[in-house]
Parts: sequence; C-alpha cells; structure tokens
Amino acid sequence: MKTIIEPFRIKSVEAVRTTTIEQREEIIKSAFYNPFLIPAEDVLIDLLTDSGTSAMSSKQWAAMMDGDESYAGSKSYFKFEAATKKIFGFKHIIPVHQGRAAERILFTFLLSDIDAEGRFVNSGSTKYIPNNNHFDTTRANIEFNGGNAVDLVIEEGKHPEVIHPFKGNMDTNKLTEFIKTTGAKNIPVCMITVTNNTGGGQPVSMENIREVSKICKEHKIPFFIDACRFAENAYFIKIREKGYEKKSILEICNEMFSYADGCTMSAKKDAFANIGGFLAMNNEDWYSNCKNLLIITEGYETYGGLAGRDMEAIAQGLEEIVDESYLHYRIHSTKYLGDKLTENGIPIIQPPGGHAIYLDAKAFLSNIPADNYPGQALTAELYRLGGIRAVEIGSVMFGKYDKDGKLIPADMELVRLAIPRRVYTQSHIEYIIEVLCEIKKNKDSIRGIKIIEEPKFLRHFTAKFGLV
Ligand code: F0G
Repeated sequence: MKTIIEPFRIKSVEAVRTTTIEQREEIIKSAFYNPFLIPAEDVLIDLLTDSGTSAMSSKQWAAMMDGDESYAGSKSYFKFEAATKKIFGFKHIIPVHQGRAAERILFTFLLSDIDAEGRFVNSGSTKYIPNNNHFDTTRANIEFNGGNAVDLVIEEGKHPEVIHPFKGNMDTNKLTEFIKTTGAKNIPVCMITVTNNTGGGQPVSMENIREVSKICKEHKIPFFIDACRFAENAYFIKIREKGYEKKSILEICNEMFSYADGCTMSAKKDAFANIGGFLAMNNEDWYSNCKNLLIITEGYETYGGLAGRDMEAIAQGLEEIVDESYLHYRIHSTKYLGDKLTENGIPIIQPPGGHAIYLDAKAFLSNIPADNYPGQALTAELYRLGGIRAVEIGSVMFGKYDKDGKLIPADMELVRLAIPRRVYTQSHIEYIIEVLCEIKKNKDSIRGIKIIEEPKFLRHFTAKFGLV
C-alpha cells in the first residue's frame, strides 16, 4: 500500500478549545505579539515546539507507575543508564532535567580553570566552540560563560531553496582553517548538532560526522554531539546515504556515537519524554568534574534533576524511538506538509527537515524588511487567522546590534512549524496547509513588528512586541 499510516492508535485524548478570529486578535495583542506569552489553552494547534510535547505510549505510562523514587541507586536510574548505553555507548551518563542543564554543566566546566580548592574560575573569553549551528540555548550557555560560539555549517545550509541531502553538515575545510587560526588549545570541544535544528532540522551525514571526528582527533580536540534528534538523523542516513540502506536504526546510531567523545541530550525530543535529558562522556576526569556540578545544582548522580518515573519514561521512549516504522511515518508526515506548502507556492527550507517545516518568511513576506521582523509578523498572523502557534527563528532569535544600535539581521528569517511527536492527525496537518494558503492570499497587507522591551539573553522567550 502507498498510504503511510500512523503506526499507533489513540487511547487517550485531550480536548482543544476553538476561538474566533476576534478573540485571537485580542489574545495576541495582550501577549505583545509574542507566541511564548499566549496561554496554551488559547491555542488550537500548537507547533511552538516538538520539545516535551510528545504523546507518551501506554508502555511509557505503565513504566512510570514502576518508577523508583529512591534518592540513591534507584532501579529506574539503572534502567535509564542501560537504555542510553545501548544506543549511545558512552561510559558515563549524567541525568539532568533537560538539555540545557547538560549544556550548562559542560560549558561551565570547559570554560573555567579549576583552583586549588576545586572551585571553577571563569576563563571563557579566549575559548571558542564550533558547531554546525548552535541551538539558541547552547549558544547562550557558551556566551553566558564568557566563551565564543561559532557556526560552521556548509554553505548550502544557509540557503533555504538549495536542495542537499545533508544540509546540516559541517564545512570541514572551514573547520580545519578555523582550528589553524584559533589554535587547538583555545577550542575545548567541537560539537555537531543532529539534526541541525537552527538550520532547518536538516540531517548530518555519517561521512561528515566521521570526518569531523577525524579532524578533531588529529588536533586532540574532544568531539561532542548535540543528540536531541539523533533517531531522525539516523533515519535520514538510512534512506539517503550509500551503504546504510540495510542497517538498522540502532546500528546507525551506534556508529554515529562511536565517533564522538560524548553528547548532550534533551530527552524531550527523540526520547518521547515530557522532561529530562543527559550529559554523556567517556573521559574520567571530565566526568568527575561534571558530576560535582551536577550534585551542586541538579541532584545526586543517580537522578540528576529527574524523578524516578521520568527516567522510566525516557528508558522506554528510547526503546520506541529507534523503531523504523515510527520514523518512516514521522519523516514522511513532515515531508507531506512541506511538499503541500511548496505545491501551493509557500516558500520553505528545502528539502523538508525531520521534526519541523521552516517557512522562509524573508521570501514569503518580502514586503517586510528585516528590522520589522517578517518571521515574527508571520507567527502573529498564523495565530490570528488560524489559532496556530509557531516560533520565529530569525532576527528576533539571533539578531544582534552594532555599536550604533542598528540591527545586524540573522542569516535567515524563518518560522518553524515544529510537529509534536504522535500528537496531531492528518486532518490537523490539512488545516495548517489551508491556513497558510489563506495567509498567502492577503500576505501584502500583513504588518511588520517592532520590539518594545527585550532582555539581554534569549530575548525571543520574553520580549514584548508591537505592530509597526
Ligand atoms: N539542542 C538542541 C538542538 C535543541 O533543539 C534544544 C531544544 C536544546 C539543545 C536544549 O534542550 O530544551 O531540553 O533544554 N530545543 C527546543 C526547541 C526548546 O523548541 O527546539 P532543552
């Protein structure tokens, strides 16, 4: 059969509230045109994130009842540890409450010197951490610790319309050049993010992971993977990279992580959990320092910031995510949305990524200049017209100011439609397509956006906006 169906059926449902356009106009105005400030109950289809929004399976819920809440040595920890080792293979696993906690621990350690009493003294300013594209929290955790986050994605990855099977790849020539000019001693770790969320949910090839790992080894630079969407990445390798057609997803994952010295992971993505994550590594000395930080701020080493039941949900989720029939459905349903939008002349990052479709707001709302934030304007219109919540990934999220306070825009002005795992049905997807086609009809009347109030870090979460 040609039709690809959801490889699950629905056992429990959650009602969604419909609102009128007039109600939504009031709601978005009161939320200062920032989707993060809209109460979730007022959202019809929530595509803000695929993080922590998965529908858990009956087996995950069942496992949660069996969670062991002991402070030390919980049996749920050992289950969690075994499940992560099976896929990622690293010697040490540090549980944390979510991905950014892993980032905070890793970068606080790597961007510090350690004094005689074992205290961390910040020494970040001379240190550089390359990635294909840092996610916003990764970049913020590096910069907050005084370090410098550097993006080295291949040129194709910066152009929405360009088709490339592995647009998330790192530019290995640029990496070699970067190491030469910066000096390996100033690069405490090199990272690669799979799939590349900031660049459109685009995958990284096994060849690229292998090559980056080799370059890092030659220069004695540790290599870590930001593993949030590792299984989606593995599926893309299976269907797009020669030599992997017959390998299982688990085998592909094992190989991906065999090239790395460690990883950061948000279990809120490819582990189907509502909360959780981990930091994993092989190096004993790093482990002992990171564990100290964990115990000071997150919790004891066999639970980190998690309840026993959360570790159960993650362990079971990791079993389920490497199921090829699920990944087949997942990647194809995202592609269906992307292909339909393309057929209707709505510009997106090509080809469709794994967990989301990224609308190219610069091309779509070409009447709105970068300093009137076309991506933010499009999120406001998606909510106003259709009750759909999405997130801007453009100059609101990544724009900087020059010394005269003028905006230095981001490379791309995108709006991400992130698809929660196992949550929405085909007719929800059809509705999203219809809303975007309606927006297209009146796109020239959509107004730009200005910033009224903004914090210094991660401004997109809490900034307030107004219409131009
Ligand atoms: N790395 C990547 C690539 C991510 O996409 C995220 C989170 C994190 C790290 C941090 O993980 O949220 O568990 O602390 N991304 C979410 C998103 C928030 O919507 O894309 P976290």
